[in-house]
Amino acid sequence: LSSLPREKGWVTSHLFQYQGFWHTSRHLKGVVACQQHFQAHDTDILLVTTPKSGTTWLKAMAFALLKRVRFPDTRHHPLLTNNPHELVPFLEIKLYAESKVPDLTSFTAPRLFSTHLPFTSLPESVNTSGCKLVYLCRNPRDTFVSFWQFTNKLRLENMGTNPLEEVFDKFCWGVSLSGPFWDHVLGYWKESLEKPEKILFLKYEEMKAQPHVQLRRLAEFLGCPFCPEEETRCVVDEILQLCSFENLSNLEVNKNGKLSSGEEHSAFFRRGEVGDWVNYLTAEMLDRLDHITEEKLHGSGLKFEVS
Ligand code: A3P
Repeated sequence: LSSLPREKGWVTSHLFQYQGFWHTSRHLKGVVACQQHFQAHDTDILLVTTPKSGTTWLKAMAFALLKRVRFPDTRHHPLLTNNPHELVPFLEIKLYAESKVPDLTSFTAPRLFSTHLPFTSLPESVNTSGCKLVYLCRNPRDTFVSFWQFTNKLRLENMGTNPLEEVFDKFCWGVSLSGPFWDHVLGYWKESLEKPEKILFLKYEEMKAQPHVQLRRLAEFLGCPFCPEEETRCVVDEILQLCSFENLSNLEVNKNGKLSSGEEHSAFFRRGEVGDWVNYLTAEMLDRLDHITEEKLHGSGLKFEVS
């Protein structure tokens, strides 16, 4: 980033760089408070993503999986009346936001939290404890388009609608929420190769293509695989249906509700597909984005699917 053009005043006017990644001022306070005060337990599960990679979906699935003994009936389920972000709170954006130090005693094991923190900024206890991490990534083309739509919807940077080209330019320079996108993904990818028992690495595109396979993978990793009796009752299908884009996005709570921080729940449900980039990115943009992705991922073994 030392080579960022100096005239790009936006770089520091809306986002702040901390430990190599970009955060809003509000989020940054939460990041620091979380690093200072969050104590991970051995039984904790942390869902990690870059913004717009499918966090809402992952939260719903992990919650439904882990709480399925307590809430076995998916026709009367907390996910039908609560947005997934309320059921699985963000550490730095919600619990520790504005430098709060929350009382977490009401969370029962296994505690389920989420974060956009890059691997190198995680609170120390996450690494030293037996806490498990699930990382969900999404191809950069769709992540970017979803992110751009989101910034417009929420007026995230407080400057009206954000021109596609400008947000794209920033994204490519690494300046996006929790960006650089590639460094975020690679941090967890490399760690997941070294510690597969600690970090499960999932891809949005694979979840869409093979939801049953990926949900079973998630259940096994979380230590709650489906037993033969559950397989007979088609519990996998029930959970996938409960957490599907079609189902969640059409619920009253997600159509009209708001998070306590003000964001409309509906902002987290747009199209929920792979390949919507085709409607927004020009050939030049694709060239630039793919070139960066190729360079960054070179030699890592990580590949993204884009359609
Ligand atoms: P699009 O903008 O491409 O539609 P996040 O949850 O990390 O903020 O990511 C939001 C993206 O995930 C949005 O993508 C949203 O539509 C999609 N999404 C939300 N819920 C989903 C679900 N249940 N299944 C698949 N995609 C979902």
